[in-house]
Amino acid sequence: MLETKINGVNFSSCLMNASGARCETYDELIELGKSKSSAIVSKSSTLEFRNGNEFPRYKKLPFGSINSMGIPNLGYKKYIEFASELKKNGKPYIVSVSGLSESDNIKIIKEINSISDIDFIELNLSCPNIIGKPQVGYDFIQTKILLEKTFEFNKKKLGVKLPPYFDFVHFEEVAKILNQFPLSFVTCINSIGNGLFVDIESESVVIKPKGGFGGIGGKYVKPTALANVRKFFELLNKNIAIIGVGGIETGIDVFEFLLCGASAVQIGTTFVEEGAKCFERIENELREILKQKNYKTIDDVIGKLKLI
Ligand code: DHB
Repeated sequence: MLETKINGVNFSSCLMNASGARCETYDELIELGKSKSSAIVSKSSTLEFRNGNEFPRYKKLPFGSINSMGIPNLGYKKYIEFASELKKNGKPYIVSVSGLSESDNIKIIKEINSISDIDFIELNLSCPNIIGKPQVGYDFIQTKILLEKTFEFNKKKLGVKLPPYFDFVHFEEVAKILNQFPLSFVTCINSIGNGLFVDIESESVVIKPKGGFGGIGGKYVKPTALANVRKFFELLNKNIAIIGVGGIETGIDVFEFLLCGASAVQIGTTFVEEGAKCFERIENELREILKQKNYKTIDDVIGKLKLI
């Protein structure tokens, strides 16, 4: 009922973890393997190990979260090394790549190309938390050049993780670029970059890096995420699947993303706050709403949003 397919690869359900939360260490990835997440998505990886930004760098907020982690990760070689063990679960293994430069990205993607136990690369064009490194996805020329250089050699199934866009002209420009490449999927949205939360008691910011500015996730971002999924569903070639992410807490949230055109969804803030049991809960809730509405499979729902 909840199965989905992305570029020929079967996923046992349309729910998986979002890159970022609880997917950095070997143990965390193994736990994802044992969970009801239908895939294992790694933390965004860089060329070298990174400690990330100073603490505190994540805070739960009334309706979501703010973070400026700074890509703490083990370095891409570890995520390659873990692949054969992680594949014993039989789930798709998706390695997120977030090189700090174009040449880092190319080097990492080249190496992953030869690793058969990695099913997909999720090329992250949208990390908002590195000082002095603007989000690639907001620079359309840089995005196009990176994809051109990547697809000169890339044979691995590859998708891109996008930042949120807010203007129809931008959606159209980005879609025009993405449609030129054999992408397996786009994941939208990354956190809304550089938000600010104020704690009135202490009269201060709530995270230390970047003067308190950080990526906003959770309920705050859901309408923006749905809008991005919807627009890209309208504009992208139909062979590019859309993975929706942003503020999913319940099965009803997932149902909304499916209607807007997502073929799968990822869970970020809720997974941080609730742990791996969130996948089973949300899966049950989704099954319940599909049953109530007499849908047999998610394929009957994807993209069926009605206009009034
Ligand atoms: C981080 C945050 C992101 O939104 C992202 O896409 C990659 C990394 C981080 O701060 O670690």
